[in-house]
Amino acid sequence: MLLRLTILPGDGIGLEVIEHAVLVLQAVADTFGHQVQLQYKNIGGAALTAANDPLPAETIQACLSSSAILLGAVGSPAFDQNPGHLRPEAGLLRLRRELGAYANLRPAVCFSALEDSSPLRGDLVRGTDMMIVRELLGGLYFGEPRSINGANGSRVAVNTMTYDEPAIERIARVAFELAMKRRKKVLSVDKANVLECSRLWREVVTRCAKQYPGVQLSHMYVDSAAMVLVQRPRDFDVVLTENMFGDILSDQAGGVVGSLGLLASASVGGPVGLYEPVHGSAPDIAGKGIANPLGAILTVAMLLRYSFQLETEAACIERAVNSTLDLGFRTADLARGTSPVSTSAMGRKVVEEVKKIGSSIGRKSA
Ligand code: IPM
Ligand code: MG
Repeated sequence: MLLRLTILPGDGIGLEVIEHAVLVLQAVADTFGHQVQLQYKNIGGAALTAANDPLPAETIQACLSSSAILLGAVGSPAFDQNPGHLRPEAGLLRLRRELGAYANLRPAVCFSALEDSSPLRGDLVRGTDMMIVRELLGGLYFGEPRSINGANGSRVAVNTMTYDEPAIERIARVAFELAMKRRKKVLSVDKANVLECSRLWREVVTRCAKQYPGVQLSHMYVDSAAMVLVQRPRDFDVVLTENMFGDILSDQAGGVVGSLGLLASASVGGPVGLYEPVHGSAPDIAGKGIANPLGAILTVAMLLRYSFQLETEAACIERAVNSTLDLGFRTADLARGTSPVSTSAMGRKVVEEVKKIGSSIGRKSA
């Protein structure tokens, strides 16, 4: 198969982790006989520096003409004083919208080798395996009007949360479809005791559930869900929620399973899928060669699974990550007392494991 990808390394540790994610992709492609065609483009702070636009037209065109997009991270303190539309994050938000990527899938899995890396007790996190389904194009992130107005000292800021029925329904369907292939449980998270958006959300999700009689639907307020997520993370299967709640809960889920640096994500629903690790640009550790590349590497697995239906290849990467962790490799974010390895040592080990696992799969099917 020909894998035509646009690579957007972005800012901060995005560059370092993407370098290793691409090496893993190449290794999988070589092992399974696929061809990879890559074009690199700017986004975020890198694009602001190069072209004073966090999402240049050239980047959008490249993305729309490829089969999938792999993104590192956006964000840099250098642009903290810029107006909203000239911040690195604006590039990512526009890209999600241009792509129509309304469904953000964020799995959080506790690897057995990492049971003791969680700040929570090992027996609590053991077996955690959830899929957060975050609505990505609605809510406070995109609602109008939005502004900061008025004279200094008495300025007023406005953001708007909006959701219409079709937007809720289409994301609910994604969650129910995923649940059918998992443990058949959907937890819808909202704030229906306070927000109209959440009341409509709950009604539409409940209605949609009738078409999936095999799936057990429950509802929880977001404050309560945040608590249960640290008390009984294993209870969660598919978590369906709106944009902002999903942003917050997915970082929390990263903490629960040991590190945000492990989390991968897929943003799908439009013609071209966008794949990015959940961690940000982490400017405090950028350029030091200590970032965890596993989130980005696991993101490549999602890309192969959801954009190319290459399930065996995706599983090969996941198994390679698993065995790298089993062998004791830990980047600084995961090292609890043990001596950490660098980003590139971790990346190289995964490549080695991919080749080993890949060729044993090849031998079996030959
Ligand atoms: C994420 C990030 C982004 C978001 C930022 C960088 C705009 O935090 O993907 O979770 O808030 O969606
Ligand atoms: Mg976030």
